[in-house]
Amino acid sequence: MAIADELSNTKYSLMRALLENHNFFHEFYDTFFASSPVIPEMFADTDFRKQRELLRQGIELMIWFAEGDEMAREKLLKIAVIHKRFRLTREMYDLWRTSLMKILAKNDPEFNPVLEQAWNTVLSRGIDFFLEHGS
Ligand code: HEM
Repeated sequence: MAIADELSNTKYSLMRALLENHNFFHEFYDTFFASSPVIPEMFADTDFRKQRELLRQGIELMIWFAEGDEMAREKLLKIAVIHKRFRLTREMYDLWRTSLMKILAKNDPEFNPVLEQAWNTVLSRGIDFFLEHGS
C-alpha cells in the first residue's frame, strides 16, 4: 500500500475509535495527566468540553499536514505558536504521543501494526513541526 493511503487510514482509525468510545478524549486526558505531574497543572483553567473538540480538530490537522496539505500547515502553525507559552519539550510531546497511541490502540477495533506505523508517522511529523515552530 502506498504511504499516502496508509496515512489516510489514520482518519478512519480515529473515526472508529471515536464511535467505539464516546469517552475517548476523557480517557486520553486521564492517561496523559497520569503520565507526569507537570501536565495536569498546565490545564488547571481549561474548559474540557471545548478542549476535547479542539484536540480532535488538532489531530485531524496533523493527519492532513502529514499528507502535505498547505492549509492544514497554516492552521497547525497557528496552534504551534499558541503553544510557545507552555515551553513544551520533546519529552512532553512523547508523553502526549504515547498516551494518544495507547487510547487509539485500545479503542480502534481494527488497530494493527501497519496503522500503528502510520499513526507514528503522522504524529512524528506533527510533533517535529510543533517543536520547530512552537518552542
Ligand atoms: C505536550 C503536549 C501538549 C500540552 C501539554 C498542551 C497543552 C495545552 C494547553 C495547556 C492548552 C490551553 C488550554 C486552555 O485554553 O486552557 C492547549 C490548547 C490547545 N492545544 Fe495543546 N498541548 C499539547 C499538545 C498539543 C498538540 C500536539 C495539539 C495538536 C494536535 C494541541 C492542540 C491544541 C489546541 C487546538 C488548543 C487550543 C488553542 C486555542 O486556544 O485556540 N495541543 N494545549
